[in-house]
Amino acid sequence: MYIWHIFIFITSTLLIVNALPYKSPKPYTITLKKKLISKAHILHYVSRPSTTTDIKRAATEPLKNEFHQDYAYFGEVTLSGQKFNVMIDTGFGDFLIPSINCTSSACKNKSKYNPVNDKSFKTKNKTFGYVYFGGNVYGIRSTASLNINGYTPGYSSGQNFGLVNILPESFKNDEFDGILGLAASNEFVKFEYNVYENILLNYETENAIFSLMIGREADETESELIIGGIDQSKYTGELVTTQMSDNIYWSIHLDGFSINGKSLEFQGRIGKIVSGISPIIVPFDDAHKIYQKIPNAIDNDGSFVMPCESEFKVKIKIGSVDWDIDPRDLIDVQQLRNQETCSGMIMGGITASDNEWILGTTFLKNVYSVYDYYDHAIRFAKLNDSKFQ
Ligand SMILES: *[C@@H]1O[C@H](CO)[C@@H](O)[C@H](O)[C@H]1NC(C)=O
Ligand SMILES: *[C@@H]1O[C@H](CO)[C@@H](O)[C@H](O)[C@H]1NC(C)=O
Ligand SMILES: *[C@@H]1O[C@H](CO)[C@@H](O)[C@H](O)[C@H]1NC(C)=O
Ligand SMILES: *[C@@H]1O[C@H](CO)[C@@H](O)[C@H](O)[C@H]1NC(C)=O
Repeated sequence: MYIWHIFIFITSTLLIVNALPYKSPKPYTITLKKKLISKAHILHYVSRPSTTTDIKRAATEPLKNEFHQDYAYFGEVTLSGQKFNVMIDTGFGDFLIPSINCTSSACKNKSKYNPVNDKSFKTKNKTFGYVYFGGNVYGIRSTASLNINGYTPGYSSGQNFGLVNILPESFKNDEFDGILGLAASNEFVKFEYNVYENILLNYETENAIFSLMIGREADETESELIIGGIDQSKYTGELVTTQMSDNIYWSIHLDGFSINGKSLEFQGRIGKIVSGISPIIVPFDDAHKIYQKIPNAIDNDGSFVMPCESEFKVKIKIGSVDWDIDPRDLIDVQQLRNQETCSGMIMGGITASDNEWILGTTFLKNVYSVYDYYDHAIRFAKLNDSKFQ
């Protein structure tokens, strides 16, 4: 059923795009800012009720103490002129904005959308609710005019989004209003174009992409999202193409992993690219194998701690290319547990399947990435100013 949806969508999109005397819009660049989010966001990626059966290893417990806060990347968008700070998450397919009617305490300190006087606003009279962010999100499916730095995705019908009336408590301390998911489709709400599907409608095939540069604070590199284009000054060498292994998420096959030059045998692992969280999350057994190679690393129920001065080199092989992770990205120096031990940014958890790894911004800080659904591919390139080789 779902495959059909995608097939019909792509076919009709191609027909629409080819039928119109229509030029692709220019590329739009959105500067992103790093902000604090609650650790609960990680739980969206590591504890799916359908897969979490082993209580002892339930990811909610291990992550509780170790990850007090996380970072994610934000941009400003407007809905019919009203401004919102939204988290850009490639691992999420919906677009959520708090409603003026939201009375949850988590909504108190957020910009809330008020549809009064907005002619583009339509409500579908269709409520929605799903588990997200360590709690339940409820609201009503709606449509309004989204503007991303001058760009409006889709045609005049507007952008579908979830107008949220109830937000989980865990959103309370997050410095953002809503979430703009850039997954290739929306797993939660079918038969409704999400933001990326609307981008596909506007651009000709070669430009129906978005690109991400995730900066590193220590290097003062900036972060940006480009819709409909690529910033060639940000990388060196070629963009290397890897086929997607999924129709909804930006997931790819991983072909190798090494730590301090020693290769570990992980077969058939899939990496889901998630800009909305920072760690790399791997199944517990994989995490054990990795940290066995690090002297004095201690398993703290999936989250590993080690001496803060530990330094190790990790390479993740995708296709035939080894992508280096800067050692500075692998230890969470900002979350000092005490003077001596720091948490590792590779964590153990229950991901959506036994072979899924979540590649958060710990990975993304080390590559320039381009997301292309027409080619069913993600492209990576080495950063132009990489301080680490
Ligand atoms: C807010 O609640 C009022 C009263 O129930 C309702 O009339 C209005 O449509 C709601 N607005 C939104 C955006 O849900
Ligand atoms: C919304 O849906 C409810 C129940 O499905 C229905 O009773 C109500 O009349 C609908 N309202 C509108 C404005 O369509
Ligand atoms: C509201 O959020 C801002 C940042 O977005 C923060 O500085 C402020 O302390 C928050 N206020 C409350 C009451 O939570
Ligand atoms: C590398 O990137 C920086 C800024 O991000 C830019 O100023 C510089 O020109 C780029 N170098 C190349 C060779 O494109």
